[in-house]
Amino acid sequence: MTVALFTLGGTISMAGRAAGTGGVVARLTGRDLTAAVPGLADLGEELEVHDVEAMPSSSLTFAQVLDVVDAASRAVADGARGVVVSQGTDSLEETAYLADLVWPHPEPFVVTGAMRNPTLAGADGPANLLAAARVAASDAARDLGVLVVLDDEIHAARWVRKQHSTSTSTFGSRDVGPLGQVIEERVRVLVRPDRPAPLPWPDAGRLAARRVALHVVSLDDDGAQLDGLADTHDGLVVAGFGAGHVPATMAPRLGALAERIPVVLTSRTGGGSVLSHTYGAVGSEVDLLARGLVNGGLLDPYKSRVLLRLLLAAGADRVAVAEAFAARA
Ligand code: SIN
Repeated sequence: MTVALFTLGGTISMAGRAAGTGGVVARLTGRDLTAAVPGLADLGEELEVHDVEAMPSSSLTFAQVLDVVDAASRAVADGARGVVVSQGTDSLEETAYLADLVWPHPEPFVVTGAMRNPTLAGADGPANLLAAARVAASDAARDLGVLVVLDDEIHAARWVRKQHSTSTSTFGSRDVGPLGQVIEERVRVLVRPDRPAPLPWPDAGRLAARRVALHVVSLDDDGAQLDGLADTHDGLVVAGFGAGHVPATMAPRLGALAERIPVVLTSRTGGGSVLSHTYGAVGSEVDLLARGLVNGGLLDPYKSRVLLRLLLAAGADRVAVAEAFAARA
């Protein structure tokens, strides 16, 4: 049996130096990465390497991620036990969730990366790659959708966040915790959340044409920069204060936008849910939902933006968007 490894670049493969800046850039291939992992040969699974990109994850696109999901689908149809994707950690919480929304297979699809590049003492890439391959090959990780494995922790793509700019333990799932851990050679899955049905595969042209904005609310923000947004964008995610609150001066602007495009209300706090019926002032969650905003629930702003763009690409209107968020968030 095999595990399919797709490499996209990121710190895990950044052993080269950019001419000019002298900073690290992606250079290692999948073969280089796997050769540097003690213990991988003992896994009992052959790693079938697909070098796809060698780039920083901040430049990845929806289309590139979906191409990898498509290739991964073919790999499992051809008999792979599971899939590992190695990439940069910067956008990993979004790419993993995008893949999770459309991954229809029981085989594990595991995303990993590294925080310390291969030129540094204590580089974490080899350990993360080994743990990810163990999870991808594990029966215990089947039917869990897309997983994120770093620092020997197994996280659901739906909940995981990058929480620190440099720490090797940066990935965490604040509301649920890790689903499991890799302990010695063993994959221990301790929590098995419900797995929502995958979304239909998006049409590439419609997806490319859908633009979703994200606005993070801040102190004394009247939202003037949102004026005209409905002429250029198909949807908006608002990362509000606390449980889904904005300044009173911004509320009418958001209401007017919600009459034209779906506007999803989320929390900028990084944990917990948007409320639905607690606060009543102008700009509170009750006021904003009454103005037509969609409740993003427990889904964070970044993942909400991914979900909204896929829904819009599938032709969802405001009602369908609200139903989809209610089912997934
Ligand atoms: C990147 O996301 O490509 C750079 C940072 C990282 O991999 O941790």
